[in-house]
Amino acid sequence: MKILGIETSCDETAAAVVEDGQRMLSNVVSSSLDLHVAYGGVVPEIAARSHIEVIIPVIEQALTDAKTSWDEVDAIAVTQGPGLIGSLLVGVLTARTLAITKDKPLLPVNHVLAHAYANFIGQSPPPFPALGLIVSGGHSQVMLYKSHKDYNILGQTRDDAAGEAFDKVAKILGLPYPGGPSIDKAAKRGDPSAIKLPKAKLDSPYDFSFSGLKTAVLRAAQELAGKDFTFPSYELQGALTKEQKHDLAASFQKTAIETLADAMVKAEAEYQPKTILLAGGVAANQALRQELERRLSAPLLCPDIKLCTDNAAMIAAAAYFMKISPADPYKLTVIPSP
Ligand code: KG4
Ligand code: ZN
Repeated sequence: MKILGIETSCDETAAAVVEDGQRMLSNVVSSSLDLHVAYGGVVPEIAARSHIEVIIPVIEQALTDAKTSWDEVDAIAVTQGPGLIGSLLVGVLTARTLAITKDKPLLPVNHVLAHAYANFIGQSPPPFPALGLIVSGGHSQVMLYKSHKDYNILGQTRDDAAGEAFDKVAKILGLPYPGGPSIDKAAKRGDPSAIKLPKAKLDSPYDFSFSGLKTAVLRAAQELAGKDFTFPSYELQGALTKEQKHDLAASFQKTAIETLADAMVKAEAEYQPKTILLAGGVAANQALRQELERRLSAPLLCPDIKLCTDNAAMIAAAAYFMKISPADPYKLTVIPSP
């Protein structure tokens, strides 16, 4: 079964053809990231306009790369949410139109659940029960999967998503957007135990909170700089030495990663999973992978780096394995909130 996946929940316009949920025949991603750099974050209006401009060429490229004609496409899977409403609408309306004109079943997919299915591409399906850690710019969730249809959210962030915390701390330190890769790089040069940062204490062992950590980094940066500017402050960034920035990045990354790993260690002890699925943009972080590998007993699966961040192959794979029922192409709506 060949599924054409379409993903437009944030700033990536993506299309992919995946056969039987595992064989990736093509994977095209066009990001509007460059257009957002000047603003230090994704501007929804710019992202939506960019999707409109590139979505048809991206889909055509995905079919060409996959050497697949429309006749050979068995279904169209599309991200229904969560995400930016304007961005989601472009993907869903395009998928609806194609489903009607090409007479294909239309499969609506939840973006957060789909991230974990990046781990099913190119390898034999991991056994259940599985624990999932889905960490990206928009979401941070600990999931328990008993089967493809039977899953629940054990915990999630109370405020900032993990990737969002990386992005905001990078902004404090004046490191380039997107912050995740910048912090990752800076942290390799810093001392992770240079600055003691707090971990949030919550009543639920599987929930996270990253906003206190972000504020603690700001306070530590102000103290090191001997200044008290309000965030975001270019003067604060200028007052910090490279070494101080590296130490702050390393100390923040260590604390954020430990917070995520603490929750997974507790969840593993309680639910005894056969596999751990790591997914989402933050899964690209090598230090996070190493920490989870070191502290967890069950085998840890991490997607290929290019499948960690938003892509449409994971949408097609999720639609296949979750056996999503077709939606009415004349009625399908978007679901922006998580
Ligand atoms: O999955 P994704 O592409 O988009 C969402 O669905 O949100 O994730 C993007 C997020 C950004 O916050 C980015 O800073 C973070 O993933 N990220 C990383 C790394 N690479 C990307 N965070 C930490 N370390 C990385 N190496
Ligand atoms: Zn995502």
